[in-house]
Amino acid sequence: MPQYDLVVIGTGPGGYVCAIKAAQLGMKVAVVEKRATHGGTCLNVGCIPSKALLHASEMFAEAAHNFETFGIKVGKPKLDWKQMLAHKEKTVEGNVSGISFLFKKNKIDAHHGTGKVLGAGKVEVKADDGSTSVLETKNIVIATGSDVMPLPGVEIDEKQIVSSTGALELDKVPNRLVVVGAGVIGLELGSVYARLGAEVTFVEFMDKILGPMDGDVSKQFQRMLKKQGMNFKLSSKVTAVTKKGKELEVTVEPAAGGEAAAETLAADVVLVAIGRKPYTDGLGLKEAGVELDERGRVKTDDHYRTSVNGIYAIGDVIAGPMLAHKAEDEGVALAEMLAGQAGHVNYEVIPGVVYTQPEVASVGKTEEELKAAGIKYKAGKFPMTANGRAKAMLQTDGFVKVLADAESDRVLGVHIVGFGAGEMIHEAAVLMEFGGASEDLGRTCHAHPTISEAVKEAALATFAKPIHI
Ligand code: FAD
Ligand code: NAI
Repeated sequence: MPQYDLVVIGTGPGGYVCAIKAAQLGMKVAVVEKRATHGGTCLNVGCIPSKALLHASEMFAEAAHNFETFGIKVGKPKLDWKQMLAHKEKTVEGNVSGISFLFKKNKIDAHHGTGKVLGAGKVEVKADDGSTSVLETKNIVIATGSDVMPLPGVEIDEKQIVSSTGALELDKVPNRLVVVGAGVIGLELGSVYARLGAEVTFVEFMDKILGPMDGDVSKQFQRMLKKQGMNFKLSSKVTAVTKKGKELEVTVEPAAGGEAAAETLAADVVLVAIGRKPYTDGLGLKEAGVELDERGRVKTDDHYRTSVNGIYAIGDVIAGPMLAHKAEDEGVALAEMLAGQAGHVNYEVIPGVVYTQPEVASVGKTEEELKAAGIKYKAGKFPMTANGRAKAMLQTDGFVKVLADAESDRVLGVHIVGFGAGEMIHEAAVLMEFGGASEDLGRTCHAHPTISEAVKEAALATFAKPIHI
């Protein structure tokens, strides 16, 4: 008899949730994690620390820009960067220790070390001192996540030239920050430093920021960020970063190429945020016969089965959006399947949120995707400037856009830019999960005064007229 029903390698949101769900369903579970703490990228160096800094810097900006209008006189806010970092650290500690507690509570054996798949049913754990042990198990889940995508020719030292990990612990706020890539990481962390006084310039390869988002959202959101003082060089790429003492010289060329049109930007810190890649280093997958796809992701079928019986994979290391909640839901679905239940993830309804100010949130199809698929749709839009609560809060940047099928009225996509968008998007997600229509949303009574009323009014705009514009 093997020691375990399930061994999970990696305790990020995919792995730890899968382990807990499997234990709740009666399985004997072990996890293997090489990092000193559990929670993976998300809790240690991703979602959680970035949100701690985003919230704190947002409060700083609120105090600087809006307090006087609200009639609050506290003087010009002063930044205590060390304390802001301490708040971030404490938030991370609280969250990662929570996972250790949940492992104990669910009687999950947590092994510290690097996991290697020796074949179906066998996982080697290599401890920090080099000693090894082997765990025997019925099933193995690979949940090893992702790592920073390097920029060829630019070496990350995590001090001056940083990835998101270094950007979460700079020793001071830089005067000039150049961000390579205006995707989710770049815009979130760029916003943190812009609010705290840095001059921030984004160099983005594509002709729009937040590439996969609805075009309307990208365009208007970029305008809002410009208004906040951030600079954008679109259709451009960084080809070199040269250290000149304490200063960095960043060479920028048109995305299409052309050294002749190259220019240089001076920076104190450069943040490289051009995407992440699946992490499978040292796992022994090739030797074990586990196939990868052309992008280095573990190949799985729709039951998360790899090419080897009894070995499964979930989260950032497989195809799909690299999001914590996608990894978590896959963890639950897989544990349910292993327990003989019907686990399922609806990939059509996975919300995406960018935690800037205003926030950007989206679920379902964009207008561009609907057009490309030849689907006839109706669009309803409502601006935050016409929402009473947003006015009272001085948060009138943004809008809600609802896209519904032209014939059936079924909601196909909802896109929100505005204060609290990341919370509001879930009413759209629930509606879409149940196949709801735009009229269902537009006729659902929404409490007044709430910013969510903008969602109702945008839905109304797809089949009737909104009341407040
Ligand atoms: P990971 O969280 O990467 O966890 C994998 C774990 O496996 C790691 O702990 C690693 O140490 C361990 N591991 C790897 N190899 C081995 C091995 N051989 N043996 C033992 N252990 C191993 N997503 C959101 O949804 N919302 C956000 O707000 C958000 N913010 C982010 C901010 C930043 C700065 C970054 C970088 C990412 C952010 N993400 C966010 C993405 C999110 O972090 C990932 O989608 C999520 O962590 C993926 O979970 P995972 O379990 O697949 O992998
Ligand atoms: P991303 O894919 O969101 O953005 C990368 C950007 O860099 C793209 O716009 C791309 O066009 C650009 N780019 C690529 N190569 C370039 C080059 N050579 N020069 C200039 N620009 C270039 O990736 P990002 O921001 O690194 O985030 C990685 C992952 O982490 C994402 O998949 C995201 O889902 C996840 N994440 C999610 C968050 C959230 O949900 N709020 C927050 C942070 C990260």
